[in-house]
Amino acid sequence: MKHLDDIENVKKRIESIDLNSILFPSEINEWSELTKEIVDKKLQRICSLPLCDEDFTVVYTLYSRLKWFDALKACTPNKNATVLEVGSGSSTVIPNAMTAYDVNSKYITANMNKKLTEGLEKNISKLPIKFDIIEDDANNIKNYLASNSIDLVVFEHSVNDVLQAILCEQNGIDTTHNDWFELLPKMIELISKEYVEQTLEKKLKLAFLSLVNNCLCVLKPDGYIAISHYMFQYDLNLGYNPELWQDMLPIIRPWLNELSNVKEVFIDGFDPHWWLFYQKL
Ligand SMILES: C[S@@+](CC[C@H](N)C(=O)[O-])C[C@H]1O[C@@H](n2cnc3c(N)ncnc32)[C@H](O)[C@@H]1O
Repeated sequence: MKHLDDIENVKKRIESIDLNSILFPSEINEWSELTKEIVDKKLQRICSLPLCDEDFTVVYTLYSRLKWFDALKACTPNKNATVLEVGSGSSTVIPNAMTAYDVNSKYITANMNKKLTEGLEKNISKLPIKFDIIEDDANNIKNYLASNSIDLVVFEHSVNDVLQAILCEQNGIDTTHNDWFELLPKMIELISKEYVEQTLEKKLKLAFLSLVNNCLCVLKPDGYIAISHYMFQYDLNLGYNPELWQDMLPIIRPWLNELSNVKEVFIDGFDPHWWLFYQKL
């Protein structure tokens, strides 16, 4: 597998921070129970293998939060930023990183699936930052947010979800009211088939770019879009095409590069295989 990150750089970055400024007190307790050898072993796995259940410990929490902390620092150098996430599900990776980076920032997510939104509401209400949840397709974001009002648009491991939801819609499958994870095997079958038959671009590019363009309308000039991806073993076990799963961002990069209102930027420490950054012109 293409490595997710450079282990030595990751270790150096972790050594450079005050853990108390990134982790919450209960996470610090968990961290303090780990030896250096265990931490290094876990980081090695995270950097070199698709993530599986055993990876979701405080070590991964720190790794991913620090990565997003650094992405926020690069993309929203002015504090009090408003960040829009597309397809958060119930995950609080982004609002947690925002809490660590700037407690005065505001988080907004556009998330379609009802059950996952309920989970998100429960998790996020414990955090000190301001937030809004938009229960709709991000393609309709202009109905909710003013033009040029957002500092950063984030797709945290959600390009795959957005593409899968578009394919489901094309196939008459409702991803809003059904259980997302019950639909997952079918979604994986659909997207892997399109990839193998080389019809991914024909089926998905226009709809995906339309969604991105609508997000760009609410993004401030000079604002960024930050996109991350990594591999879960779980999806591979369900039959995700391994090449598609690994190369998700290199596959959509040429699509995004067709947009005339953005330019791709490269940020030190972020592997362009797993991270895409675009700046609005
Ligand atoms: C598996 S979940 C969570 C993804 C999350 N980024 C992660 O990896 O932990 C995927 C979510 O993306 C949402 N989603 C997919 N396409 C979307 C769209 N066009 N607009 C808003 N939400 C979308 C789904 O409704 C679902 O709640």
